[in-house]
Amino acid sequence: MAKIKVGINGYGTIGKRVASAVAAQDDMELVGVTKTRPNFEALNAVRKGYDIYVPDSSVEAFRDAGVKIAGTLKDMYAKVDIVVDCTPGNVGEMYRDQYKEAGVKAIFQGGEDHALTGISFNSTANYSESWGAQLSRVVSCNTTGLLRTLYPIDKKYKIENAYVTIVRRAADPGDSKNGPINGLEPSVSLPTHHGPDVQSIMPWLNISTMAIKASTTLMHVHTVVAQLSQPASTDEIKEIFRKAPRVRLVRSKDGIKTTAQIMELARDLGRDRSDMYEIIVWEDGIKVVGNTLYYYQAVHQESDVIPENIDCIRSMCKAESDPCASVRKTNAALGITKE
Ligand SMILES: NC(=O)c1ccc[n+]([C@@H]2O[C@H](COP(=O)([O-])OP(=O)(O)OC[C@H]3O[C@@H](n4cnc5c(N)ncnc54)[C@H](OP(=O)(O)O)[C@@H]3O)[C@@H](O)[C@H]2O)c1
Repeated sequence: MAKIKVGINGYGTIGKRVASAVAAQDDMELVGVTKTRPNFEALNAVRKGYDIYVPDSSVEAFRDAGVKIAGTLKDMYAKVDIVVDCTPGNVGEMYRDQYKEAGVKAIFQGGEDHALTGISFNSTANYSESWGAQLSRVVSCNTTGLLRTLYPIDKKYKIENAYVTIVRRAADPGDSKNGPINGLEPSVSLPTHHGPDVQSIMPWLNISTMAIKASTTLMHVHTVVAQLSQPASTDEIKEIFRKAPRVRLVRSKDGIKTTAQIMELARDLGRDRSDMYEIIVWEDGIKVVGNTLYYYQAVHQESDVIPENIDCIRSMCKAESDPCASVRKTNAALGITKE
C-alpha cells in the first residue's frame, strides 16, 4: 500500500512533534512543514531535512534570509493526501476553506471548536467516527487526558457524574509571553469548556469542570471525582488503568511526587523531546469509597495529543480499520510501552 502523504501546517509546539511522529511511521511520508517566518525553528526544520512551504506573503522574507523553501502552501497541498493543521487556535476557518478548495483532508487541533469539523477524535473512544472523513479535530490536551481515563471506567461501571478540577500549566516551556508567573488564576466562566469538549466525543457523560491556571510550565494536573452507577474496588480501577492504552501508573512512594519527577522520568526513558505521551495516574492516589471514585492525573500538554493525530490520519485515510491495531503501531513507533 502507498504511504500516506502528510503535510504539517504550523510548526510550533504541536506541529513540530506531529512532524517527528509522522516521520517515524513506516506507512506515512512527511511531505513538508509550513513556516511563516524564517526563524530558528525554520532553520531546525531544514537541519532535520524537512521541506519548508510558506504562504505567498512570506516568500520574500525566506529569500532575504537565505532559507531554502520547497514552495508555497498551495504547492504543498498539491503533494499531500492530508494536512495536519497545527496553527494557533481560531485561525482554522480560513484554512478549512483552503483545504476544501485544494481537495485535501485536514485534521485540526483542540484550539478550534468542534463545529469547525463536526467530528472530534480520540483513539480509544471513537476512532471509527473519523473513518474516511474529509475533516476531523483531535481534541485538546486536557480533553484527551480526560477521555483516556474516563472512557474505560465508564465502559465498565457507567459514570453517573464526573466532577473535575483542572490545574492548568500557565504556558508551554518555550513560551515567554504568557503567565501568570507568580499566582493562581481561576477560570471564572463556569462551568469551563472542558466538560462540553469531552461531550463532543462522549455525549452521554454528565461531566462538570472547573479550572485554575498555575505558575508552572511542565504539565496540567486533574483531580477527578466520579460517581459510579455500581460499587467498584480500588484494585479493580487500578487494573482498568493498567490495561488502558496510553495511561501510565506511577507511585508517589517510588519518588514520583510531582510533575517535575514525571518529566524527569520522560527524560530517563529517552523519549524524543523528553515527551510523556501517556496520561499519568498516581496509583497510590486512586481511591474508591462506596460508589465514589477519586484519582489524580497529570497531562503533558505538549505531547499527549501527538499519538492521537497519527491514529486520526490512519482512520481518515482508511489505512487501518482496527483502532487497537493503529494504537499499537503508533505506540511502537513512538516508544510508548507499558513497562
Ligand atoms: N501547546 C499545547 O499545550 C497544546 C496542546 C494541545 C493542543 N494544542 C492546540 O494545537 C494548536 C497549535 O498550538 P501550539 O501550542 O502548537 O501553537 P504554537 O506553538 O503557537 O505554534 C503554532 C505555529 O503556527 C505558526 N503560525 C502562526 N500563525 C499562523 C498562520 N496564520 N498560518 C500558519 N501558521 C501560523 C507559528 O509559526 P510561524 O509563524 O513562526 O511559522 C507557530 O509556531 C492549537 O489549536 C492549540 O490549541 C496546543
